[in-house]
Order: sequence, then structure tokens, then C-alpha cells
Amino acid sequence: MERRILITGSKGQLGRALNQVLSEKSEITIINTDMGELTAYCPISLDITNAVAVMNFVQDLKPDVIINCAAHTAVDLCESDQERAYKINALGPKNLAAAAHAVDAKMVQVSTDYVFDGESDKPYTEEDTTNPKSVYGSTKLAGEQFVQENCKKHFILRTAWLYGEGKNFIKTMLSLAEKNPEIRVVNDQYGTPTSALELARAISKLIDTESYGIYHGTCEGIATWYEFAVEIFRITGNTVKVNPITTEEYPTPASRPMFSVLENKNLKRLGIYMKPWEEALQEYLF
Ligand SMILES: NC(=O)c1ccc[n+]([C@@H]2O[C@H](COP(=O)([O-])OP(=O)(O)OC[C@H]3O[C@@H](n4cnc5c(N)ncnc54)[C@H](OP(=O)(O)O)[C@@H]3O)[C@@H](O)[C@H]2O)c1
Repeated sequence: MERRILITGSKGQLGRALNQVLSEKSEITIINTDMGELTAYCPISLDITNAVAVMNFVQDLKPDVIINCAAHTAVDLCESDQERAYKINALGPKNLAAAAHAVDAKMVQVSTDYVFDGESDKPYTEEDTTNPKSVYGSTKLAGEQFVQENCKKHFILRTAWLYGEGKNFIKTMLSLAEKNPEIRVVNDQYGTPTSALELARAISKLIDTESYGIYHGTCEGIATWYEFAVEIFRITGNTVKVNPITTEEYPTPASRPMFSVLENKNLKRLGIYMKPWEEALQEYLF
């Protein structure tokens, strides 16, 4: 049966990965929207913070599924621009959820490990208590809550340390290594590097179900940013010297959770598994 899937923020890392994965399914028609420059790939401008425009657009096109990949993802900038962060990360999902509800569509809201405070010493499951420490984390949590309140058919999918086509940690490391004989990388924050392609594959399976609720979706395993960097250079055969440092030695405007490993408990219950992070990284780099 033909299905129409609306992707917002489709020019971002996850939006592009979803296009790659969902375009393999012949019954799916993808509607790509984003802000800024329009292209053949993304010919429609839709600002998710504009409630009227979102409602009108969704009521006209009547998608079966809305996947919200749009977000204010610049974690440090969110600290100094709280109003914009709240509009995009909280009110945007609210507008989309209300519109999804109006046309009886399923909605996927992508969220983050930064909804947790990172003070745990074991991986967080979907039932664990949230306690964001940054503007980014608290606005994303508000977005989750709006989606839960406004659209019954919701999947809230928390991911972490995402990389795909676009600006990401891997590209930053490779570019730093080109210009410097030695680089310093934080070695006391733990998480899981997650390939946007792997996440898109999980979303593609999840939207075929009616098992609504909260999900964690990260690759398997644990690493620090330093270990992530070392693995990037090992795979690419780069001999740059990587020096481990502490968070204190690399202060940033936004506070990051020290431990934000997520356990994909609910995805695994549905038989949806994501690759170990090293394997997914290898796939991305080659
Ligand atoms: N990246 C990570 O490490 C990470 C980690 C955990 C969770 N997540 C979550 O995963 C999701 C996808 O992240 P991503 O890395 O793919 O993000 P991304 O690459 O930053 O893409 C987000 C897209 O949304 C667009 N956008 C911003 N404001 C918008 C608005 N008002 N209306 C419509 N589009 C708008 C952006 O346009 P501009 O570029 O022009 O602003 C961009 O094209 C997000 O929900 C994010 O919070 C990401």
C-alpha cells in the first residue's frame, strides 16, 4: 500500500540517511522539507515553528507518517539563544504533533541522550528519570512531552553522538589531523557514536509497527570521545598523535552528561538491533 512520509529537517544528517533507506521501499513517497536554500532534493520550505503553516501543509498533503529531523542541534549556541532553541526543539515538535493528530498520521520525534544528567554508572533505559543539564537537553525534553500530549501515535526516539552526511565529529577530527601533528580529545565523557544510517534503518522498521512510545536508538557499545577519535584514525590509517584530556581542560558553554550511554531496551523487544559502533563507523568511512 502506498505511504507518504513527510520528513522535516531533511537536509540534516538524519534526514539524508532516511532518504537513502526509505527510497529503497517502492511503496513509499518521501516529502522532503527544510529551511533555507531549496534544491531538487528538498524543494519545499517548511518552518516547523510556524504552527499555521505546519497545520495547513499537513492537512493538504495528508502524510501517513511525519518524521521530525529538524532541530536546533548546536548544543553550545542553545545556551545563549534559549528562545530560539525552545521554539525549534519544543514548539516545532508540538506543531507537528498537533498536525499529525489532525490527519491521524504516525509521528516520529527524534530526541537525545542529553535529556539525562549523566550521573548514572549504567546505561539509561527508556524508564529512567530524565534531568537535563543544558538548554538543548531541556528544550528537547519539552519537545518530547508536547509530542506525547498532542499525538497518540508517536514514537519518541532518543539517539546520541550522531554522524552522517553533514557537519560531524568525524569530519572535525579528520580536518584537525590534517592541520596539526597532535590533537587533544576529551576522555572522561562516555557515550555511543551512532551512525545516522543505522538509526534510519531502525526508524524504517519502527514505523511499520503500532508499538508507540519512547525508544532509545544508539549503536551498541561504549566509548569516550578520545576512543572514538582513536578508532577514526586507526580505520583511516592516520598517524596523528591523540592526547586524552579531561572535560575540565576543555570547557564549553553547555554542560554535557559525563555518562550518557543508552540501552535500546524497547527496540530490542521488537527485534530491532543496531550495529556495534565500531562496525557502523567502518561502514561509514568506507
Ligand atoms: N547530531 C547529534 O549528535 C545528535 C545527537 C542526539 C540527538 N540528535 C537529534 O537527532 C535529530 C537529527 O539530528 P541531525 O544531526 O540530523 O541534525 P542536523 O544535521 O543539525 O539537521 C537539522 C536540520 O533541521 C533544520 N532546521 C532547523 N530549524 C528548523 C526549522 N525551524 N524548521 C525546519 N527545519 C529546521 C536545519 O537547518 P539549518 O542547518 O539551516 O539550521 C537542518 O537542516 C535532531 O532531533 C537532533 O536533536 C542529534
